[in-house]
Amino acid sequence: MRREPLSGGRVVLRPLEKEHLARCVKWFNDPDVTHFLGRAEPLTMAEEERWFAEYRLKVDEEIYAIEVDGNHIGNIGLHGIDRGNRKASLGIVIGEKEQWSKGLGTDAMNTVLRYAFGSLRLHKVNLDVIDYNERAIRVYERCGFVREGVRREELWKGGRFVNLVRMSLLETEFREAAPGPTRPR
Ligand SMILES: CC(C)(COP(=O)(O)OP(=O)(O)OC[C@H]1O[C@@H](n2cnc3c(N)ncnc32)[C@H](O)[C@@H]1OP(=O)(O)O)[C@@H](O)C(=O)NCCC(=O)NCCS
Repeated sequence: MRREPLSGGRVVLRPLEKEHLARCVKWFNDPDVTHFLGRAEPLTMAEEERWFAEYRLKVDEEIYAIEVDGNHIGNIGLHGIDRGNRKASLGIVIGEKEQWSKGLGTDAMNTVLRYAFGSLRLHKVNLDVIDYNERAIRVYERCGFVREGVRREELWKGGRFVNLVRMSLLETEFREAAPGPTRPR
């Protein structure tokens, strides 16, 4: 488990700590945010603290608080880190809505991907995104992610079934999309 922050252009990614949890609870109870996420059920602080206690014991998951000018605005994480197959899944949420579309998500993605393909030595990072989340898809494609396929009617959202797009990025593709060092920072 990494303990050092990762520095991006404007964002700093700090390993998630207990002090971050109250903000996570706020975001995961905001329908404008959960509209774009796989989860939508209300979340209590007690549930979040239980989840965090379990998370701390895991060796295959790393979650970072996205901070800008010292303010926690969202989270980004690598899940299911599989060292044998050198792959992981990525998830991101900027919970502070007034921070959307300012380039911070792209910055956070590139920062965590540099780490994933650098010191973590991953070969592949994948993610799932709801097909109507055009802003997220724009960011992922800009980072070099390509569409692998569609998981049809995978989630029940807003009274209908919606499709999930599976996207992935290989180390070579990331280097091509964002030339520069992928060494640890
Ligand atoms: C998705 C998310 C991480 C993107 O981060 P961000 O900081 O808002 O995104 P950026 O500012 O880096 O880039 C957004 C891009 O999408 C574009 N965009 C914004 N709204 C859009 C829309 N409705 N349709 C298409 N493109 C859109 C922006 O113009 C920008 O592209 P550009 O720089 O080429 O102009 C963030 O918005 C977020 O957390 N949203 C809520 C939760 C979520 O969707 N998480 C991802 C789940 S898979």
